[in-house]
Amino acid sequence: MIREEFDFREWKGPFDAQTRARAQAALEHGRLLYFPRMPFKLTNSETEFLDGRLTDGKAKNISLDHTSGKLQGTSATGERATRLAAMIERFGAGATQFVKDLLPNYSGVERARTSYRPVEVEGRAYSVISDDRLLHVDAFPSRPMKDGRRILRFFANIAPHSPNGGGARHWEVGEDFADFASKFAPRIKPHFPGKSWLYDTLGVTRGRRSAYDEMMLSLHDGAKRDAQYQKTAPHTRLDFPPGSCWMVYTDQVLHAALKGEFALEQTFHFDVAQMGEPETAPIKVLERITGKALA
Ligand code: SIN
Ligand code: FE
Repeated sequence: MIREEFDFREWKGPFDAQTRARAQAALEHGRLLYFPRMPFKLTNSETEFLDGRLTDGKAKNISLDHTSGKLQGTSATGERATRLAAMIERFGAGATQFVKDLLPNYSGVERARTSYRPVEVEGRAYSVISDDRLLHVDAFPSRPMKDGRRILRFFANIAPHSPNGGGARHWEVGEDFADFASKFAPRIKPHFPGKSWLYDTLGVTRGRRSAYDEMMLSLHDGAKRDAQYQKTAPHTRLDFPPGSCWMVYTDQVLHAALKGEFALEQTFHFDVAQMGEPETAPIKVLERITGKALA
């Protein structure tokens, strides 16, 4: 099964050693961890944030930088924005505690941005490259992962329960990373050597992209641009009903979000060296495929 289910009711440990080992191994082997019964509960006053008009109309997501408290991408202002930020922060802090309790081996885990995605995914207009309804692995154009730092994401569907069973977030997940990468890697053109230096110098990227970063961006764009691959590649449909949460390595698991509104998401990063099975990390897989050191 691509989805490893856990019957937790609380966002806190302690979790026993066997459960922790099962969670870590499943993640590293490219499965999603699925928590159908530990909802992120909104307070009564927070239900006003179940509103697609909460974004500024430009950004796909509202995002919170927990280090500065800065909220971006929202039309909310003043006291309303402060309460929205507090809701997103409560989610992000809870997700971080949960990851620390469930995956204590990832001790150097870095809490990155927290996002709120209140806009219905289906039927929205996107450019191909920003269309997350197409299968892709995550790679951030402005945020290099250098020596293969991982991208782990925790999601919660906070859509209200509806009597007809609606409100689920619909995803598709694709084939194994190594199978995907073996198809696309030979087609990737080498990037011109001065580019990562230039981007760093111009401030396009936060730090210099490595060969790994360039390759991951090429894989992200290559998959989305390949209409034939999108049509014929293996994919499994997954539904995440209101009240459910899930966690996945989005730099490793090919994924597409097809439908749904009102999801919260917390991103984490940490070094490959912290993994139990580092050879499953995308950078290691790509180094085996290309026969080159990528960082
Ligand atoms: C994505 O990471 O591609 C989108 C996931 C989502 O919003 O459900
Ligand atoms: Fe993605």
